[in-house]
Amino acid sequence: MNIQSIRESERNSHIELYSNEELYKEGSWLNKPIKTVTDLFPLFEECEKFRALDLGCGVGRNSIAIAKQFQGIPCRVDCVDILELAIEKLMENAKRFGVEECIHGIVSPIEEFEIVPETYDLILAVSALEHVDSKESLVKKLEEIRNGIRQNGVVCLVVNSEVTERNKETGEELFPQFEVNLPTEELQDILHRFFVGWEVLKSTVRAQKYDIPREGCISKLSTIVVTFVARKRG
Ligand SMILES: C[S@@+](CC[C@H](N)C(=O)[O-])C[C@H]1O[C@@H](n2cnc3c(N)ncnc32)[C@H](O)[C@@H]1O
Repeated sequence: MNIQSIRESERNSHIELYSNEELYKEGSWLNKPIKTVTDLFPLFEECEKFRALDLGCGVGRNSIAIAKQFQGIPCRVDCVDILELAIEKLMENAKRFGVEECIHGIVSPIEEFEIVPETYDLILAVSALEHVDSKESLVKKLEEIRNGIRQNGVVCLVVNSEVTERNKETGEELFPQFEVNLPTEELQDILHRFFVGWEVLKSTVRAQKYDIPREGCISKLSTIVVTFVARKRG
């Protein structure tokens, strides 16, 4: 399966998800920011200003919570997503939650968004880096992420690996709609190699299964989720 058809399928799947789910609504997968992100907030208590980058931000599940947390100080969250609808809904949500002055929505593939060196206190990518167009792009982006973080800043990555998909009804095996689907161990090796010398705050792997809408069916998706959080120390 080529990149175009994976992207088309991912696009349709996210349009369906974002059209039917409301941010921070009980019962939705968007009901709250992920704990790995909110657990980081105390690390930045002393900051006088705060700048974050959310790659593959979606409708703002994590970035709106970040903006709310740091709203009292000069704060800017750059939010990048390939899908126009995601950024449209992100900006609506920013308004709804009173943080529109902090949220900067950017429609762009992660691969094409250039990260300016030494700019961010926090860079996060939650279920997003596996959607860059190749392993080479992933490696290049990790290099940019590493350079984009300021001293004492934090990188927070949640990446799916070893993904398999099956048609829920028929059990038929489906091609996983993930542009980069690495073996878990290889992904972990890459992450640890890139951030060598940084203080690793969290490094976990967790098997997960969930249902996801795909072209004309529901897919039962199995994944090993790799979470990696590290802080740049002098
Ligand atoms: C599973 S969602 C996660 C959204 C958000 N990070 C969260 O945790 O709620 C993945 C998001 O990545 C976006 N995406 C997929 N491929 C992308 C790419 N190459 N560049 C930028 N965004 C991408 C999708 O449009 C979608 O909004």
